[in-house]
Amino acid sequence: MKKILVTGGTGFIGSHTVVELQLKGFKVVIVDNLSNSSIEVLDNITKISGIKPEFEQFDLSDEAKTADFFQRNTDIAGIIHFAAFKAVGESMQKPIEYYRNNVVSLLNILDGMKAQGIKNLVFSSSCTVYGQPDELPVTESAPIKQAWSPYGNTKQMCEEILRFATMQLPVRAIALRYFNPIGAHESALIGELPLGVPGNLVPFITQTAIGIRPMLNVFGGDYNTPDGSAVRDYIHVVDLAKAHVIAVERMLNEKGKADLEIFNLGTGNGFSVLEVIQSFEKVTGEKLNYQMVPRRAGDVEQTWADTTFANNELGWKAEKTLDEMMLSAWKWEKALAAKKQN
Ligand code: WQD
Repeated sequence: MKKILVTGGTGFIGSHTVVELQLKGFKVVIVDNLSNSSIEVLDNITKISGIKPEFEQFDLSDEAKTADFFQRNTDIAGIIHFAAFKAVGESMQKPIEYYRNNVVSLLNILDGMKAQGIKNLVFSSSCTVYGQPDELPVTESAPIKQAWSPYGNTKQMCEEILRFATMQLPVRAIALRYFNPIGAHESALIGELPLGVPGNLVPFITQTAIGIRPMLNVFGGDYNTPDGSAVRDYIHVVDLAKAHVIAVERMLNEKGKADLEIFNLGTGNGFSVLEVIQSFEKVTGEKLNYQMVPRRAGDVEQTWADTTFANNELGWKAEKTLDEMMLSAWKWEKALAAKKQN
């Protein structure tokens, strides 16, 4: 069984990816500093797959600890690197922390790969690198615009670091540009666990419906979109997780066609905020309390993916519908509420 290092593996996308890796027969070691996730995620991963992943808790921006990890772990066949700070708004308030954490962590991982001769790296990137695309759907060859946030800039910088590092090192990398990951595993044992007030739309919707939040604010009803609210490409987190396994296998099987390959991971469909709300109300029967408010600074008007490259090269396509995504998010929120009552 080949072993894969999953950094940030107790996080939202990381935990779902660990499950899919285990189900495909990989051994997994997770490194996470638990700054934005909880240790009980490990137990819930184990409940789903029946296999407890190895786990080490430390900060990957710590050079010595990361080097020590790689000296002790000599059987890693590939790495999926999720560990990063990821809140756009927070990054505006804490730019230095975002650059240090997100960029230095990658550099420390590349050092470890060089020391151990690890050749394969999947990097968690984001559609944020495109800003507001000029053309939609957006393809991987779309121009990278000036970042709108330090968070987005760290993703751009990390892709550039990989572009040059893979030229010089015996390392191959696949960068996956996520659109908007939402939803939860069908077991409702793992899902999105926002600490504090959610920044993202879907956890705010489910927390409003369950009664944690009094009302959802819809940021902007005056965009140049069919119903005036902003449009995004929402993708189910399990569809996203499966793409990571395919990316790892592509490299392990030497099927890669460049030192660095970049893929959009979306559904190819754009939905507005109001359409997401309508989907939620339809599949749950809940009436959502929301109001229209002015736009949120830093938001793009509309974006959705051209997924042709991932479909053709990876043989991967997102399968779940928006209704399935919203229902899974609601099941997860209700499971969280039930746990709190016990
Ligand atoms: C979606 C839409 C909001 C909250 C971010 C990152 C991106 C990726 C996904 C990491 C927007 C609207 C939201 C609310 C609202 N993260 N909204 N009321 O900003 O598209 O993308 O998360 O990779 O990199 O940029 O996601 O969920 O915050 O917003 O109306 O309370 O919902 O304005 O139109 P976003 P989001």
